[in-house]
Amino acid sequence: MTALTLSTAAAPGLRADAIVIGVAKSAKGPVVAPGAEAVDKAYDGKLAGVLETLGAAGAEGEVTKLPAPSGFKAPLVLAVGLGPVPEKDTGYDTEALRKAAGVAARALTGSKKAAFALPLTDAADAGAIGEGALLGAYSFDAYKENGKDPKAKNGKAPLAEVTLLGGKPRDKAYKAAIERAVAVSEELNRARDLVNTPPNDLNPESFAAIAQAAAKEHGIKVQVLDVKALEKGGYGGILGVGAGSAAGPRLVKLSYTSSKAKKHLAFVGKGITYDSGGISLKPAGHNETMKCDMSGAAAVFAAVVAAARLGLEVNVTGWLALAENMPSGSATRPGDVLRMYSGKTVEVLNTDAEGRLVLADALWAASQEKPDAIVDVATLTGAMVLALGNRTFGIMGNDDAFRTALHEAAEEVGEPAWPMPMPEHLRKGMDSPTADIANMGERMGGGLVAGLFLREFVGEGITWAHLDIAGPAFNEGGPFGYTPKGGTGSAVRTLVRLAELTAAGDLG
Ligand code: BES
Ligand code: MN
Ligand code: ZN
Repeated sequence: MTALTLSTAAAPGLRADAIVIGVAKSAKGPVVAPGAEAVDKAYDGKLAGVLETLGAAGAEGEVTKLPAPSGFKAPLVLAVGLGPVPEKDTGYDTEALRKAAGVAARALTGSKKAAFALPLTDAADAGAIGEGALLGAYSFDAYKENGKDPKAKNGKAPLAEVTLLGGKPRDKAYKAAIERAVAVSEELNRARDLVNTPPNDLNPESFAAIAQAAAKEHGIKVQVLDVKALEKGGYGGILGVGAGSAAGPRLVKLSYTSSKAKKHLAFVGKGITYDSGGISLKPAGHNETMKCDMSGAAAVFAAVVAAARLGLEVNVTGWLALAENMPSGSATRPGDVLRMYSGKTVEVLNTDAEGRLVLADALWAASQEKPDAIVDVATLTGAMVLALGNRTFGIMGNDDAFRTALHEAAEEVGEPAWPMPMPEHLRKGMDSPTADIANMGERMGGGLVAGLFLREFVGEGITWAHLDIAGPAFNEGGPFGYTPKGGTGSAVRTLVRLAELTAAGDLG
């Protein structure tokens, strides 16, 4: 992955392929952002005018390239739009910096080294710029000839090296911010890789093996329940969903523990490595991107590893509920009744409502350890995408204060999210004449119905929240900000932030 460092070097003498500067938008035209003083000076203080001549306005997402002034070792200046000039003294919003850094890093695909001279007032800004650059430089080329992406990237490799100017390389806070940016971004990019890996290569078994290897590397305890162990334990939900696949299901438990921990968080991820719908088969047009249905498990995996790498003083257990949802002679049928790990029975009315079945078992398993809180992450319903669009995830839960805390954590790290209700009247739509509950209810409010189903499998008295990331997990459109096409790594940064806040005692 792209390397990230801090430097005190002055822009002119820096050996790099490009100097990245910021340009902001004002009523009077583009404004050169702080950090680019040396570049502006070399342009005789006329850089804003030069940029305007080149068509720059300072809008978010905008990229303007110009030759570096004489005397500069780097040949290129890349001006990236930051959006509106901030109101006096408040500085630039960290998310605006993160996005601009991501846009610049992607625009510099094929370059070796870039120096970022963006406005930066504290360590948090440096962290945001670093994170944006590392996330924006991401590309998934594993399946392209020569490991490159000839079409999308013109055969060029991602930006190899980023150095941030204007920070304090010896300052503890800056060092920590960069370390954090590297750990979180590397793990988030790994989650993206897992999501993008085609389902003929990533199945429950290979996913579990990857989790095992990473856990070993980072001192995380790992336990994998295979089909035999799941049968012995009575995990009817996970087994029922995986029954139609030639690749059997797994439940992976990752335990990161800190000797200084006062709290214990459990993260539960939906890990359907491919969702065909099962016997309730999805029609063409709805199944092409369903390799993304393990995005929740990928996010949980990444967050646990990041927590370990950062040495957070909180215990975090990750549960990956892995199965492939396929139709076959051995598949679960609509009408079948499953006996879940909790002992409850579920009438499967629609085999395409499989996520809630694997999560139910994992939520109950997580509950047995009586953690202080459980957060599950899942590409659970198309209804949530209809409600919130494809960049915002929905948050539900059994504790309003916890749901609000998660929402605030999400906004803080730059992940759009919104609280959703769990109206009690929707519960009776899941009443089953045969079993304790059916896996489907009313069509209207389908995302909320799914949340109500999950609630039934959370242990008594345990604080719980549910993130439905069906919209933002996979970007079918073009790249924007630091978000690439394909797997996005949605929810990773929210989970890491929650773990940090919990470790710091800032939550409950
Ligand atoms: N994995 C899908 C949800 C999904 C839809 C994720 C679009 C990402 C993008 C889930 O398993 C599913 O099929 N849900 C059904 C539930 C229904 C049958 C009750 C849905 O949302 O249609
Ligand atoms: Mn489904
Ligand atoms: Zn699914």
